[in-house]
Amino acid sequence: MIPLSVAEIAAVTGAELDAVPDAKVLVTGPVVIDSREVAPGSLFAALPGTRTDGHAFAVAALAAGAVAVLAARPVGGPALIVPDVQAALGKIARAVIDRAPNVTVVGITGSAGKTTTKDLAAQLIEKLGPTVAPRESFNNEIGHPLTVLKITSQTRYLVSELAARGLGHITDLCAIAPPRLGVVLCVGHAHTGEFGSLAAIAAAKGELPAALPADGVAILNIDDHRVAAMAHRTPARVVTFGRSPQADVQAQEVGTDALGRPRFSLVARGETAPVQLQLYGEHHVQNALAAAAIAAELGMSVADVATGLSAAVARSRWRMEVTRLPDGITVINDAYNANPDSVRAALTALSTLAHGRRAFAVLGQMTELGDDAERLHETVGEAAAAAGLAGLIVVGEGAAPILVGAKTAASWHGEPVWVPDAATAVRAARDRLRDGDVVLVKASHSIGLERVALALTGERPIADEGPRS
Ligand SMILES: Nc1ncnc2c1ncn2[C@@H]1O[C@H](COP(=O)(O)OP(=O)(O)OP(=O)(O)O)[C@@H](O)[C@H]1O
Ligand SMILES: [Mg+2]
Repeated sequence: MIPLSVAEIAAVTGAELDAVPDAKVLVTGPVVIDSREVAPGSLFAALPGTRTDGHAFAVAALAAGAVAVLAARPVGGPALIVPDVQAALGKIARAVIDRAPNVTVVGITGSAGKTTTKDLAAQLIEKLGPTVAPRESFNNEIGHPLTVLKITSQTRYLVSELAARGLGHITDLCAIAPPRLGVVLCVGHAHTGEFGSLAAIAAAKGELPAALPADGVAILNIDDHRVAAMAHRTPARVVTFGRSPQADVQAQEVGTDALGRPRFSLVARGETAPVQLQLYGEHHVQNALAAAAIAAELGMSVADVATGLSAAVARSRWRMEVTRLPDGITVINDAYNANPDSVRAALTALSTLAHGRRAFAVLGQMTELGDDAERLHETVGEAAAAAGLAGLIVVGEGAAPILVGAKTAASWHGEPVWVPDAATAVRAARDRLRDGDVVLVKASHSIGLERVALALTGERPIADEGPRS
């Protein structure tokens, strides 16, 4: 982190000091919300969690070397008292960014692919200079400022993942670290429940290009008409990416290698270079193009972008994570999250990867879909049947309409079953899978189906328990 004194932090947050012996003492970081991650020089932010209140860990944090606690009330040691700890985190992050004029901020948003694009972009940009990128999906009003607070005086680039669960969220995140480059990947069905409509989702994602400065760059997916239309919402220069021959950064001749990983010709600035991704699923072409557009804007040559993309790996887990077991079964763990678009994309990837072998899917509930949830689950069941699976294992109450949808597909010869929980799903899968089969495991994060995939790969045995939600 770029060091700030306790007095400076108080000034930017409006905090009252409590039991602080010397306000000139520096917070050198890291700023943490988990007391187990405290190091000497840390600031511990006591957030009111849903299960435990961070204030209960303040004493432990101070004992572990925290300079002070950012808190809503006195904690029995040095504290900066603010009415809203989360909002104060954002203000500290903004103060740090304001002290780092050499850092170029890149913001990435979209309904799907943010983390993948962030990981790909970071692997490219790291070659241009010291880069800070979020851990996992640190993309909200807590994870975003925590990421910003990781920059040091050496940092040149900050890649940030920006998530929206409602209108105004992205605007707020952009105020914490104003991006100069802003990427919008797609407008899809994730979190439709909170937004109500795709138009509302588009309006929310469009807050990123709208927040860019006139000398910034809006990097927009030309293949998604709702994203392409955001060109009218930004004062920044527009750079487009996509498969369309109109795109500034294009993928041409898209195909897959023998393992089902996409390859394409990257076309930009009149140059062409071959890319062979290490990721599974053709939907990642879009994410790779977005990362390519970012790196090219930051000065990387098209040839270097192509080489970098071809070497880049999936940094964040449980996103189309493919494990080939010694017994010849292949497990695709895509249990990080799910919505109708990403399940369809995963089913397509499953078929490509299976390439004539028997394909199975273990599917759980897609959460946060609102009033349309039942119908959307049914359509996913229809898509599963259309994918020609040998077997479909539907897990949990909330996912049951997937089974209904699959059964309506008259010409499908595969076997659909419903099981109540993850442990039963593992048994059902083991009963069915044999040498050479490929199985996809996917559901929303809170359903915890990664436990099924980890049990099937042998990484972690499953406890005999019911579903988490
Ligand atoms: N363009 C795409 N179209 C459909 N599915 C996609 C696309 N890109 C990624 N996915 C799938 O969506 C899931 C989540 O990917 P990723 O974690 O990159 O997205 P995210 O936008 O960061 O999600 P979150 O909102 O949960 O942070 C994975 O299953 C991935 O394979
Ligand atoms: Mg993410």
